[in-house]
Amino acid sequence: MSDRIKKAVFPVAGLGTRFLPATKANPKEMLPIVDKPLIQYAVEEAVSAGATELVFITGRNKRSIPDHFDRMPELEYELEERGKEDMLEQVRNIVPKGVTCIYIRQMEPLGLGHAVLCARPVVGNEPFSVILADDLIDGFGSSCLQQMVKQYDEHASSVVAVQQVDPAETDKYGIVRVTEVAERTSRVEQIVEKPAPADAPSSLAVVGRYILTPRIFDLLETTGRGAGGEIQLTDAIAALLKEEQVLAWEFVGKRYDCGSKLGYLEATVEYALKHEELKADFCNYLRDLAEGDVCRPHD
Ligand code: G1P
Repeated sequence: MSDRIKKAVFPVAGLGTRFLPATKANPKEMLPIVDKPLIQYAVEEAVSAGATELVFITGRNKRSIPDHFDRMPELEYELEERGKEDMLEQVRNIVPKGVTCIYIRQMEPLGLGHAVLCARPVVGNEPFSVILADDLIDGFGSSCLQQMVKQYDEHASSVVAVQQVDPAETDKYGIVRVTEVAERTSRVEQIVEKPAPADAPSSLAVVGRYILTPRIFDLLETTGRGAGGEIQLTDAIAALLKEEQVLAWEFVGKRYDCGSKLGYLEATVEYALKHEELKADFCNYLRDLAEGDVCRPHD
């Protein structure tokens, strides 16, 4: 495991407009998949890949995120009194020992690139990871970020996670044109934010995992507003790859777009089917439901 990528950045200031009204007063990153909020899955993935400093770029209406990662003595006391050891363990270990949470407020909603730049004072001159919590990735064998750290260790260059998407949906993603280096690993030749399908260089999309060298911060400082009038991380990566190699890693696993209602429901069902306590009952329930006339349109 890498001993160099210790800092993980979580941009969590976004408004979550695709999930209104649920996200009006609650952060989208706090939406639960079965019994854990999305941001906790993201944190567990970062910690699995060796991160020890978690940098959250937060905004207004996001106070429940620091609360979630804080200790809660009154709850711990109650659980202790009632002998609920398992639950006590769970709430105490949300942030494992040796891991620190740092919160920075993004004062203006200027986009993902700007959010990442807000982490500069904490990250400094080190390579670091970025995780977008609404892209939930179930890594097969190892987490997506662990797989990427391995690539970083081998090649010592920035790495973005990619997957093939529907060519009609390139305008939802950063899209790359690549040259293959090895199985699942390729070199990024071009990257463009949310191109229309007719203009897209491919249908290989960046999903919410990045390992970046600190040079990205200098480039972000001079990146102007791009797609959607926002300062785009993609545009800074486009500048980075003129100076340094940037790799694309086709991760082994399944991604759920939990910023969309359908992706969120898919993740909920599939994670419930893997959940130790629930899987048997939930599977029976789904079977019964499917045997009935589930999809009959209601009048
Ligand atoms: C962001 C990035 C985009 C990336 C996507 C992955 O877009 O800007 O390049 O492909 O995340 O989910 P957003 O979904 O925040 O609009």
